[in-house]
Amino acid sequence: MSTKSNFKSLTQDKFIQNPYSTDDNSAFFSQWRQDQKEWHDSNEKFESFWRVQAERLLHWKSKWHTVFAEKENHKFNWFSGGKLNVSYNCLDRHLHDKSDKLAVICESEDGTVEKVTYRQLHQQVVRFSNVLKNLGITSEDVVSVYMPMSLELVIVMLACARLGAMHNVIFPGFSAESIRDRLNDCSSKIIVTADGTWRKGKVLPLKNIVDKSLVGNKSVENVIIWDRGLVSYRKNLNDLDWHQLMQKVCLEENIRFWDSEHPLFLLYTSGSTGKPKGLVHTSAGYLLGATLSSRYIFDLHPDDIYWCTADIGWITGHSYVVYGPLSNGSTIFLYEGAPSFPKPGRFWNMIEKHKISKFYTAPTAIRMFMSEGVKIPHSYDLSSLKILGSVGEPINPDVWLWFFHHIGQKRCPVVDTWWQTETGSIMISPLPFEKTLKPGSASKPLPGLICDIVDEKGNTKGTNTEGFLVVRKPWPSMARTIYNNHDRFVEQYWQKIPGVYFTGDGAKRDEDGFYWLLGRVDDVLNVSGHRLSTMEMESALVSYPSVVEAAVVGRPDDITGEAIFCFVVIDKIGCTADDLVSSLKQHVRKKIGAIAVPKDICIVEQLPKTRSGKIMRRLLRDHACGRSFSGDLSTIEDRAVLKSLQKSKTLDLRV
Ligand code: WT7
Repeated sequence: MSTKSNFKSLTQDKFIQNPYSTDDNSAFFSQWRQDQKEWHDSNEKFESFWRVQAERLLHWKSKWHTVFAEKENHKFNWFSGGKLNVSYNCLDRHLHDKSDKLAVICESEDGTVEKVTYRQLHQQVVRFSNVLKNLGITSEDVVSVYMPMSLELVIVMLACARLGAMHNVIFPGFSAESIRDRLNDCSSKIIVTADGTWRKGKVLPLKNIVDKSLVGNKSVENVIIWDRGLVSYRKNLNDLDWHQLMQKVCLEENIRFWDSEHPLFLLYTSGSTGKPKGLVHTSAGYLLGATLSSRYIFDLHPDDIYWCTADIGWITGHSYVVYGPLSNGSTIFLYEGAPSFPKPGRFWNMIEKHKISKFYTAPTAIRMFMSEGVKIPHSYDLSSLKILGSVGEPINPDVWLWFFHHIGQKRCPVVDTWWQTETGSIMISPLPFEKTLKPGSASKPLPGLICDIVDEKGNTKGTNTEGFLVVRKPWPSMARTIYNNHDRFVEQYWQKIPGVYFTGDGAKRDEDGFYWLLGRVDDVLNVSGHRLSTMEMESALVSYPSVVEAAVVGRPDDITGEAIFCFVVIDKIGCTADDLVSSLKQHVRKKIGAIAVPKDICIVEQLPKTRSGKIMRRLLRDHACGRSFSGDLSTIEDRAVLKSLQKSKTLDLRV
């Protein structure tokens, strides 16, 4: 493991005075930080923090008896003995005073707007949970979902939570083959989809893709289709129509409350091996993390209109589009479509129109907006905005400052939030009340979380020294296991560095205790904030007939943060090199999905390897970044490979 990453070292800019901070709210915050110092050493105080939060923030049917317990082999239990229903927490508990409050506002790319109140959302969720129940879905089952960003997707998730069935939401950028792998891995009995979804004025035919994914699948018994009349599709015997099912079903129910550790959902993410892993999140701890962090980081108030732009198919969408804000009784805004469609300014138009007050997005989107020029956001009324958030990858100080000046108009703090699919909720972030902010730094761990920067043995690194970011104590919203593969969970996260949770990220901490994230230290790429495994892409590439060997690395990209750079060794060229490059791109699209299509493919004679046969990725990274080869070259098996790699530039076909 090396802490060297692809990211340019972030400069430590000066502090920015936070315009949102007042003496009152910053005093509250300082007290929290004071308390935090004590948690590190005292388990009692640490648990007492989480006990108080769980009592304050969640509705419990019956209270737990133990705040935290760690069982053998890294099995973690939070709030054992307690019972609650996550869907009840997001809906029913708001009905006495917020039943007519808007819960969801949706806008589609074609301009259609739909609004529902908490009462209406509650009714739809009860109906859909009855639909699932009537189809024989129980708390043992996994409901897979391949849907647009829509109210209906929120309904499916909350209906599953209500029924105690796990949902498995699959991002619509994944291909039929990726869906198939996921369905097979979790033996899903049902998949919910739509006829299609909008993407840049075209319709992506989701149902047709699902049909392809079912070839050779044995577990799926039914496909539910939310038919929006966007695109025609083949009707199969086991297809069920959303509208018909919802019409027929009754509104009555006998809600059940589930154990704190009852599984809530599984979500596949890329790791450092070729196979995506299904991370399992459970009910109470996850909901507490999402509820607490969204409440304080976005300082949620009753009149807020809150917009997190992430697709629900990623963890950000789970925690900060759906569960966190709804559990707090907020109004959420959803947009189905591409950011600058039909023209730049679409996002600012929606902020103006819907009076969005809290806006949470990704550096890659901000960089794209920067490239469109400041005139565009300046021509909209963005005065409703109060807090801006960033997530997914390190945000460069210049991007942070652009966001702060041109979107937040120097009124709104930017909260750079670091976390992962595995952590369930935000771990490192400023709270918006802090007196000062540092552009480019995610600030400090949130209350209740004990992070550190360490070497391979787990020893704390000194100030301003790069190391591995770890979490020293378990926390409620952490993933509990990898579906059907607990050994991989233990090995990946709990055994790499003794006694701590290993994040896979490099970081350093400055003299003020601020954390600076430096990117992944493993074979995981971060392209537009999407996580991709180099191994997964390599196995997709070598499954192409003429590819003998492949290696994938990341290189910096001005918009997407990192871009995918592939090196392939081929046995014969049966077509022109141009054809080969475009066929390979097509092949990766089919194998994994549109999000994994490489930007550069370089055909080489050989890959640089050590004497033991390990591909020397750092040399490939040097080449991809246009740098001369650096570091120790003594371990290379055949130095001539480097020469041929340099020559291969002529074959470097950027399309
Ligand atoms: C990886 C997790 C849950 C967030 C969405 C992506 C990178 C995430 C930041 C940030 C620097 C960040 C890390 C992390 N990352 N947020 N604010 N600053 N890096 O979730 O797909 O699980 O990816 O995204 O490398 O490990 P994910």
